Amino acid sequence: MELMDAIRHRRSVRAFTDAPVPKEVLLGLVDAATLAPSANNAEHWHFTIIQNQALLDRISDASKAHMLKVTDLASAGSRVREHLTAASDFHVFYHAPAVILISTLSGDFAIEDAALAAENLMLAARGQGLGTCWIGFAQKWLETAEGKQAVELDPHYIPVAPIIVGTPKGETPPVPRKTPAVHWID
Ligand SMILES: Cc1cc2nc3c(=O)[nH]c(=O)nc-3n(C[C@H](O)[C@H](O)[C@H](O)COP(=O)(O)O)c2cc1C
Repeated sequence: MELMDAIRHRRSVRAFTDAPVPKEVLLGLVDAATLAPSANNAEHWHFTIIQNQALLDRISDASKAHMLKVTDLASAGSRVREHLTAASDFHVFYHAPAVILISTLSGDFAIEDAALAAENLMLAARGQGLGTCWIGFAQKWLETAEGKQAVELDPHYIPVAPIIVGTPKGETPPVPRKTPAVHWID
């Protein structure tokens, strides 16, 4: 797939088939992620690959409960409110077959580095016909001591990007973009 094609056609995918993603494919995505630039070439990123559905269910439940505690529902978007308030069966990972959590050590530009690795990973997945979505909804709970323990993450790491990966079920329509603010200085 051409690079611009992958960039133009990447979508946040939220519905997946039951097909598991082979281990070597997941490791290939990690490899693509590590080709991202990092400040001072620090490469502080760390990857946790989770395929255990019982654990993903547990993280989903804990993330929703945590978000309910820390979110100001009055000012939250209507979708978030719906997911948190109703006796909703909303699954934060949309029952994806795998999650790759990108974490980092604290340091200058460490979060930026992890985010660049995440975009590389999502584009590489798109290039192979896989769907991904960054799940910020799970991030806050994963940052807690309990969350880190659940995913066997060393307490020194900061979880940055939980990314679901799977084979897309159906097409995901593009989300329209605003015209960017561009200011020229010639
Ligand atoms: C930092 C970050 C957090 C996100 N968190 C979630 C999330 O928790 N759940 C979700 O369904 N989508 C999440 N998204 C996906 C965005 O909603 C999506 O990127 C945006 O609507 C644009 O759609 P597109 O990615 O298909 O172009 C997140 C994206 C980013 C970059």
